[in-house]
Amino acid sequence: MEIKKVMVIGAGQMGSGIAQVCAQAGYEVLLNDIKDEFVDRGLGNINKNLNRQVEKGRLTEAERDSVLNRIIASVQLEDAADVDLVIEAAVENMEIKSKIFAQLDEITPSHAILATNTSSLPITEIAAVTKRPEKVIGMHFMNPVPVMKLIEVIRGLATSDEVYEAIESMSHKLNKTPVEVNDFPGFVANRILMPMINEAIYTVYEGVATPEAVDEVMKLGMNHPMGPLTLADFIGLDTCLYIMETLHEGFGDDKYRPCPLLRKYVKAGWLGKKSGRGFYQYN
Ligand code: CAA
Repeated sequence: MEIKKVMVIGAGQMGSGIAQVCAQAGYEVLLNDIKDEFVDRGLGNINKNLNRQVEKGRLTEAERDSVLNRIIASVQLEDAADVDLVIEAAVENMEIKSKIFAQLDEITPSHAILATNTSSLPITEIAAVTKRPEKVIGMHFMNPVPVMKLIEVIRGLATSDEVYEAIESMSHKLNKTPVEVNDFPGFVANRILMPMINEAIYTVYEGVATPEAVDEVMKLGMNHPMGPLTLADFIGLDTCLYIMETLHEGFGDDKYRPCPLLRKYVKAGWLGKKSGRGFYQYN
């Protein structure tokens, strides 16, 4: 199962980061989104990140140019007709992902692996819309993708060992560390991270401490690089709420109940860094 050509679907923060690390590892990459302007924005992010590496002396200009030359813009899923792997990083919506995977199943060669970067949707359910569930797998990258070492590699119910091993080996080529996980709500990363963030929000909601105080305790006391509320703003409060709801629905346990303050902020459009306001204000 040799992987040479990869399509990344979704040119947002995660998708562009994934495309960048794949191109830096020597893969040929198609960066796909539904509109040219979205792909252009993703390419702009990659350019900025690579230029920062050039400024720091970690990359030559020639290396930067060859990485950029390995990334081709795409606005049609049909461009996946000759890829070996697709990594889908589109919006976290089961209906949209199911539609994409059903189309990819028709378009891509029969040997191609179909991976999703979903943070909490069931891999097994996504795989079930295809006629190749053994070739469907989760590749959950962490934000910011170029910096974070982990890839949570999630086996769906039918994922084959051969496919798991191909993705494990590719993860090492991307200079990342794969960790094998089974398909249950929130996998491992978000099953543990999100209840901590939710509890931090309850701590503010119940007037125990200010957001600044909660973050300071966790940063200085637990050596976390960011406090949980800064991290929630960084991830996006809508994403945090969505994942909590997935955990709550998946396990049916009250311990995953999203904090009312989180719901209120999302309803107000306070989505964190990307909207300019969350637990903190950004300009
Ligand atoms: N893209 C690329 N590189 C970035 C970056 C970005 N968005 N943000 C920071 N960096 C790089 C910087 O260039 C810098 O590189 P060098 O060390 O090579 O110079 C390095 O990261 C450190 O950056 P800074 O010095 O500016 O800031 P920092 O030391 O505070 O680190 C951080 C920033 C890496 C984001 C750090 O705060 C951190 O690790 N935060 C926690 C991140 C985290 O928990 N991510 C997981 C989120 S959960 C998730 O993604 C899964 C999900 O499903 C929700």
